[in-house]
Amino acid sequence: MDLVHQLANDYALKHSSQIDDLLSEVTQYTINNHPEAHMISGALQGNLLTMISKMIQPKYILEIGTFTGYSALCLAKGLQKGGVLHTIERRSSEADVAQRFFDKSLYKKQICLHVGDAKNVLKDLHMDWDLVFVDADKTGYVGYYEFLVETVKPGTWLIFDNVFFHGEVFKEPLTGKNAKAIDAFNKGIMDDPRVEQLMLTIRDGLTLLYKK
Ligand SMILES: C[S@@+](CC[C@H](N)C(=O)[O-])C[C@H]1O[C@@H](n2cnc3c(N)ncnc32)[C@H](O)[C@@H]1O
Repeated sequence: MDLVHQLANDYALKHSSQIDDLLSEVTQYTINNHPEAHMISGALQGNLLTMISKMIQPKYILEIGTFTGYSALCLAKGLQKGGVLHTIERRSSEADVAQRFFDKSLYKKQICLHVGDAKNVLKDLHMDWDLVFVDADKTGYVGYYEFLVETVKPGTWLIFDNVFFHGEVFKEPLTGKNAKAIDAFNKGIMDDPRVEQLMLTIRDGLTLLYKK
């Protein structure tokens, strides 16, 4: 399902900053070599992540779901001097690819890649996160959210990707465990007084949360 009209998408792409050479390389490599290349954030969403990160100027960023490194490279552009982005990837093959791209980046000393299941790795990371981007297993979203909302400081920004789950959350009845998990996550945060919520209709849906 095309969630954003192709004309609007193309027009927005044309009238936004163009991606840099390293992000182009990550994109091309992923398209040519990965069967799930559609998972990459891409130019518009990546640009938004960079803008948000530049607005917040975070010291510590957490990303769950590195894939081939595209969104981490976008988010790292907003890090303050001495800041660090920690990103977690379960699959070592993807993590190896991402690390190769991180090594080519201006931010290579500021990106720390952890290989393993985020549910375990998270418990050992005790930074005061300023910005968190969650883009991993959809059935884990409720658990990640509950852990994060209880542990991050007030003023932390949380971003969750794929909150439309390819449009499957619009269908009645819901089928498939991922669509059901995302719908449960969306409904669970809707009236949660611990956060302010904004669901953006960009790409596959992106929810921006502010911890009160
Ligand atoms: C949608 S992709 C991430 C895309 C990436 N953020 C980007 O924009 O290029 C999701 C990634 O999360 C990873 N992943 C899934 N479950 C995970 C888990 N429990 N812990 C860590 N990584 C996980 C997958 O292996 C996959 O590479």
